[in-house]
Amino acid sequence: LACSLGAFAADGYPSRPVTLVVPFAAGGPTDVVARAVGAAMSRSLGQSVVIENKLGAGGTLAAAYVAKAAPDGYTVLIHHNGMATAPSLYRKLPFNAQTDFEFIGQVVDVPMTLLGRKNLPANNAQELAAWLKANAAQVNLAHAGLGAVSHLCSMVLRQAVGVELQTVPYQGTAPAMTALLGGQVDVLCDQTTQTVQHIKAGTVKLYGTTTAQRIKALPEAPTLAEAGLKGVEVVVWHGVYAPKGTPKEALDKLNGALRSALKDPTVNARMAELGAEVVPESKQTPEGLRSWLKAETERYAPMIKAAGVYAD
Ligand code: MLT
Repeated sequence: LACSLGAFAADGYPSRPVTLVVPFAAGGPTDVVARAVGAAMSRSLGQSVVIENKLGAGGTLAAAYVAKAAPDGYTVLIHHNGMATAPSLYRKLPFNAQTDFEFIGQVVDVPMTLLGRKNLPANNAQELAAWLKANAAQVNLAHAGLGAVSHLCSMVLRQAVGVELQTVPYQGTAPAMTALLGGQVDVLCDQTTQTVQHIKAGTVKLYGTTTAQRIKALPEAPTLAEAGLKGVEVVVWHGVYAPKGTPKEALDKLNGALRSALKDPTVNARMAELGAEVVPESKQTPEGLRSWLKAETERYAPMIKAAGVYAD
């Protein structure tokens, strides 16, 4: 019997390492999630999952790269809310987040924390709002580019405080955090997957969480609303994507590996320690990610338009 042998051999997949593309700097929040989940996925795939950090343009460079990669199951993307905000932020985006990918599933939800450099004079969220207003012209607010959640949070913060601030873009919040620790920037809104360790070490000033309720990983931390700064609510969600046209057999295996990774007690414990929460099983599915991305894209569009922030 003749059988056709294409580039993809379903039975043998995966027969070599799978690359998981991370849109931001190594050591930062997305990278931390990718490495924990990727290592667990590699155990069920029987192949290594290699992390590739593709930096630039607020995460859109990595998404564009994966959209154009060979649809063979060997290149996949992990990305967050940026997949939903970039279409409104970029006038010319070289990919369509909703139609250029196959969806594998959602991963974890991560709260954010609003931080200041250790010697910033403001001691709570209300004092910070006043300090930002009084010092608007000199304040340096760090973020990871248009499409980064740190940028999204800074946009929401500026709207909540009612002030325009100078922002400093980095290629991830790992370098932004280094700048905050070194006192080169004043304020950073960043995910707990990176910030918990610095908050616990007392090397940054914590103003509150961007969540509706206090979080277990930082029980002493007030929510920003509790601390008197209302309207700064951002929860970061993550999805895993493959290029459009990736064979169903590969997508099924990747989804199976993702779901087993999210059941892994080591992954769950590590995520909980970092304030992140594995999403419910209904979201760990292609449809769970597809419909969520669509809803989030529609939710952010008017907010971003009102903020008048965009890149050409
Ligand atoms: C990162 O991994 O550096 C962050 O997710 C960037 C961001 O703020 O979106």
